Amino acid sequence: MPIRRLFLPLAVVAALLSACATPAPHDAARAAPTTTAAAQSAAAAYDFDMDVFHPVVAKHGMVVSEQALASQAGLETLKAGGNAVDAAVAVGFALAVVLPNAGNLGGGGFMMVHSAQDGRDIALDFRETAPGRASRDMYLDASGQVADGRSLFTHLAVGVPGSVAGLTHAQQRWGTLPLSRVMAPAIRLAERGYPVSQTLAETLAKTAKTMGQWPATRAIFWRDGAPLKAGDPLVQKDLARSLRLIASQGARAFYQGPIGQKIVAEMARHGGLISAQDLARYRVVERTPIVGEYRGFRVVTMPPPSSGGIHLVQILNMMEGWPVRDWGAGSAQTIHHMAEAMKLAYADRSEYLGDTDFVKVPVAGLTSKAYARALAATIDATHARPSSDIHPGKPQPYESDQTTHFSVVDAAGNAVAVTYTLNTNFGSGIVADGTGILLNNEMDDFSAKPGVANVYGLIGGEANAIQPDKRPLSSMTPTLVMKDGQPWLVTGSPGGARIITTVLETVVDAIDFQMNPAEAAATPRFHHQWWPDQLRVEKGFSPDTLRLLRGYGQHIAVMPTMGRTQTVQVRDGLLYGASDPRNPDGAALGY
Ligand code: GLY
Repeated sequence: MPIRRLFLPLAVVAALLSACATPAPHDAARAAPTTTAAAQSAAAAYDFDMDVFHPVVAKHGMVVSEQALASQAGLETLKAGGNAVDAAVAVGFALAVVLPNAGNLGGGGFMMVHSAQDGRDIALDFRETAPGRASRDMYLDASGQVADGRSLFTHLAVGVPGSVAGLTHAQQRWGTLPLSRVMAPAIRLAERGYPVSQTLAETLAKTAKTMGQWPATRAIFWRDGAPLKAGDPLVQKDLARSLRLIASQGARAFYQGPIGQKIVAEMARHGGLISAQDLARYRVVERTPIVGEYRGFRVVTMPPPSSGGIHLVQILNMMEGWPVRDWGAGSAQTIHHMAEAMKLAYADRSEYLGDTDFVKVPVAGLTSKAYARALAATIDATHARPSSDIHPGKPQPYESDQTTHFSVVDAAGNAVAVTYTLNTNFGSGIVADGTGILLNNEMDDFSAKPGVANVYGLIGGEANAIQPDKRPLSSMTPTLVMKDGQPWLVTGSPGGARIITTVLETVVDAIDFQMNPAEAAATPRFHHQWWPDQLRVEKGFSPDTLRLLRGYGQHIAVMPTMGRTQTVQVRDGLLYGASDPRNPDGAALGY
């Protein structure tokens, strides 16, 4: 049973923490040698007697991810003397093995790093790029319509992967251990295998149609003509070989070496566009984060090509004038106001957001307090504005939600938040033959035809049109919330277009409602993205609340869960970790 589900008084947890030296994945909190006095002061801050859900508590380091085996890889790296970046890189490589539907070598993502040494915050962009031969209309058929599935489940869907460049760049730049040491757990997991979880088995079953098309994919993820089932061993020898090549040769093995050659050969065999030149010229970019101020906290988050940071700050700015703490968490008043703010932000997203290396994005205006006040002034306290009244009908791109996030904090105060992805579950479903590496379908995050419905029936903007080497617009929002210059909350989530609102609610739950990270993760979520004109909610809101919201004119839709946050909070010298209960495979592990 995950330790986060136990409702133990903190003093008991603290006693357990020092009782065990080598934690099993789900038991790591028991190994943390924390002090009862410090724990009690933090407990007071959290109202532990009042809280139903409790985070894992540790003192020296905390790793939170969607797969306990990957969290264990990070914890092992911290204990070996690595810092938070070493541990995050270990988790990133391990997730490529143990969370194959989202963890990856063949995708891309973003990393927020706070360096305790110089106090700097950096946004590392390792998002995929469009291949050099990509073109604006590549997903249109002869009649000018978006061709079904072409941007998702074909070799044309694959963007030039950034994950290996991103992880190795971070390791060289901020890590302290050798790359081979940091990658050792991932190599071990790929080589020896691990039992498929129920969650992974269900995901494999759901994607059987697309994954099953490709012999190299079936050879890894299928047995006896069907996807692997819960409990089956998943051994990935080709992936282990690729990981070993990267561990010994660095990113060159992927971008200019034997792995890259196999990816290019795979593309050439099936009409894909990625060339040896595309791989050789792939570059990660260190970007200046988006920074906002919210009720005395500093929110440091991801800039374009993510839309996440800008709209997180924009919505927080709108909220600053509202006494949401008095209104209460989960109240109709709070949800209605936040939903109206979300609509305005997502309307702007559709119009203005794209890769700033290619299009001009009015970042300063979108994140300005004055603009937010002007927007907030248009919100009616008891009447939802129809989406069609908010903007002349330009719905925004809508991404799939099979992404993953992990957060790490070490004893020195370094903090790392990483969100990376293949886009949909298992990406394109295509394994580059001989590499064991699943390739992304991130090209679908571009607007296949700006201004016209894409393959999902959703519409994207001109700023996000396809161009060679451009990065598709993302919603991934790895975020650091700083207090007095130090990391206070390290968070992020998968969830496609719902990432932004999931991170928003996590930040608001922590700051306004003073929830601990486990309480915040367990709180039902809501989401409005302007179009469709629908206030999507998880189960768990009371019928009275939903009735009030309907009375304000909100169109309520109770739908599947949203987001899977992986959060660390730092308070009074202790680390509090919580892996979202929406994924039972995740774990917060500390020591
Ligand atoms: N592919 C999902 C995102 O980047 O937002």
